[in-house]
Amino acid sequence: MKTKTILAIETSCDETALAVVKCDGGIKSPKFKILENLISSQITIHRPFGGVVPNLAKREHLKNLPILYKKITKLYPLNTIHYIAVTVGPGLEPALWSGIEFAKKISKETKKPLIGVNHMDGHIYSNWLSEMKNEKRKTKNFKFPAITLIASGGHTTLLKMKSLNKWEKLGETLDDAAGEAFDKVAKMLGLKYPGGPEIQKLAEKGNPVAIKFPRPMLHPPAGGKNNYDFSFSGLKTSVLYYLRDNPKANKADVAASFQEAIVDVLNKKTEKTAIEHKAKTIFLCGGVSANKPLKNRLSETAKKLKIDFFAPDNKYNTDNAAMIAAAAYIDILKKKKNTLEAQGNLSI
Ligand code: KG4
Ligand code: ZN
Repeated sequence: MKTKTILAIETSCDETALAVVKCDGGIKSPKFKILENLISSQITIHRPFGGVVPNLAKREHLKNLPILYKKITKLYPLNTIHYIAVTVGPGLEPALWSGIEFAKKISKETKKPLIGVNHMDGHIYSNWLSEMKNEKRKTKNFKFPAITLIASGGHTTLLKMKSLNKWEKLGETLDDAAGEAFDKVAKMLGLKYPGGPEIQKLAEKGNPVAIKFPRPMLHPPAGGKNNYDFSFSGLKTSVLYYLRDNPKANKADVAASFQEAIVDVLNKKTEKTAIEHKAKTIFLCGGVSANKPLKNRLSETAKKLKIDFFAPDNKYNTDNAAMIAAAAYIDILKKKKNTLEAQGNLSI
């Protein structure tokens, strides 16, 4: 396939993001050159509410989209663009609709084809966005089968990837996602939203083995069937009870011990899954992939198993539109049928 330049739009949650990505190569070894990656974060708007307010997110997207669009098309005029791509789900529906309606309007005006993209595919392909000097890190050398752990604010999912575009979902969270647990525990500790980076920072001053919080679902249920699902609401509740019963608790110790429990569960489950499926690679992605202790732990595990471990470059682990362009290109190569309706619960 000839080079395709994609203008992508991401508005599934609280980041308004636009990117222009030059895409090349076939399905076995696609190449992405990020020409521009703009993100306008709404964090300070939602912070007083301790989480994202869907209608406020929509209002901010509607305000930010034309500003970012003007900026990006000044650098990359539409006659240089082949496709428009937009996230259609999963996410907050009012937020998703603002991006979809905007993308539809541009597509109609410019007659460029519009691709509706699954946000989770975007997170998966965020590992394909950085070409590094390290030979192993070159995307054409990625080895399969691979186990991919997607850990974000809305999802915690384990996938077995047989190849870049064929995968099977092995398990997911039955309640809170890992990022959501970070955010909720941060709120209990009086930390700012989003909680993940705040907990990581506070945990550096604390003792990770000070409090033994539970490690939910670490072992398969009686009967012995493998269980790849997660559950984090019990862990969150036990932090709540601990703080209630120990009003003078050292907050740094609570943050460190909570983070240790989450990292332990994510790492052990991923390790077990990688062994059982004879994985050659572990990929980590989603907003929680910014967490250093998690990256370090999974990297040690991969070293122990003598397999590869990759996490996205820092600028691509939380929501962005470059990853949406990459996923759109894979959809084009696969000739995947796309929808242009917002789907809050779209599955992977
Ligand atoms: O992927 P993402 O940007 O949005 C969703 O698709 O959900 O993920 C956001 C989540 C938030 O819950 C945030 O607290 C978490 O990622 N996060 C982190 C860190 N940075 C962001 N969690 C733990 N440690 C971090 N350093
Ligand atoms: Zn996301």
